[in-house]
Amino acid sequence: MPVAPHIKELMSSSSFIRKMFEEGIRLKAQYGDDKVYDFSIGNPDLEPPKEVKASLARIAASPKTGLHGYMPNAGYPETRAAMAAKVSQEQGVAIDFSYAIMGTGAAGAMNAALKAVLSPGDEVLVPSPFFPEYAHYARNHGGSLKPIPSKEDFSLDVPVIAAAITAKTAAIIINSPNNPSGKIYSNEDIASLAAALKAAEAKTGRQVLVIADEPYREIVYGGRKVAPIFPAIPCSVVVSSFAKNLSLPGERIGYCVVNPACPGAKELADAIIFTTRVIGYVNAPATFQRVVAECWNAPVDYSSYDRRRAALTAVLKDAGIEYNEPEGAFYLFCKVPPRKASTGPETDAEFCDQLQKHRVLGVPGTGFGRSGWFRLAYCVSEATIKNSAESFRAARAEW
Ligand SMILES: Cc1ncc(COP(=O)(O)O)c(C=O)c1O
Repeated sequence: MPVAPHIKELMSSSSFIRKMFEEGIRLKAQYGDDKVYDFSIGNPDLEPPKEVKASLARIAASPKTGLHGYMPNAGYPETRAAMAAKVSQEQGVAIDFSYAIMGTGAAGAMNAALKAVLSPGDEVLVPSPFFPEYAHYARNHGGSLKPIPSKEDFSLDVPVIAAAITAKTAAIIINSPNNPSGKIYSNEDIASLAAALKAAEAKTGRQVLVIADEPYREIVYGGRKVAPIFPAIPCSVVVSSFAKNLSLPGERIGYCVVNPACPGAKELADAIIFTTRVIGYVNAPATFQRVVAECWNAPVDYSSYDRRRAALTAVLKDAGIEYNEPEGAFYLFCKVPPRKASTGPETDAEFCDQLQKHRVLGVPGTGFGRSGWFRLAYCVSEATIKNSAESFRAARAEW
């Protein structure tokens, strides 16, 4: 009863990934686990590396007291130093620990960063397709998300982004490798975005914060590298987590690192420390701060994602379904095929319903801001992929 009308409205309109995930649980109970091909959610199925479990066991057995108490809102200094070292390596610039703030997952870190820079009525730009939760995160802090279509090949359409920047633009979210397209933005894309931001600042008089959301940075194919943004774009932060690279999504451990070259970088870092508190996170989980301080660079073999990418693309080719070849992350963004006897414009939701009739679960592209497409998360077993082939073929043949 006391639920706010706009929350009721959002609950019914925007939780499609979760809805599919729950539908998967229902179908598995009805048909059996091995008869349902659930590609709905990006929950990594690799186990965390052995270093994580060893570190956790050591921490649990430690005779030290006070391990579970409150701490400074930014996190433990040694964990912040480890995150600063990680991001220094990735971005190729020296970063002091004071620019690193621990967060409750990448989601918590991004909410703290947005809270720090958004005023009521501000806009947050995002190249589409995009991770749908961003819309909620912008709205949480009085802003709104403004999707900007990417090019056909999912690279950044910088002139269109530049034209969309106004004095109301507080931030731009850049997610590379991208969920759902798997695109890695090139050095050239980042350089031209940097030039466009400079020109926009001269026009509007406002600095726009670029938030690089990088939970998939390590999961790349063909030896690709994710372009650093710190050397090119001073007004920037990286937010990330250990949800995907160390398979720890449930532990809610992430961080935000402010570019030391950002004008007012110290003030921005202090603001994000403050907002971590006022949005109610207080601090990131204590035990996993200790774990990631030790294990952030534990070696992980991601080659099974590459194998599964190959397996699923083979299944789709066989079924006659087109897809975008991902460069990183573990999602395939696929085109809704044309219908045999078209009775009107086919929607991605209808094609996902068609797949579901054959016990295949995917997510409509509309929710990611790109209709006519759907997303398959291939962090599932190779057997699931292989056994789904007949269902994809049958669903496509009937369509
Ligand atoms: C692009 C992107 N950003 C952020 C997140 C949230 O990550 P975390 O679980 O660390 O909050 C996800 C999770 O799937 C994601 O795909």
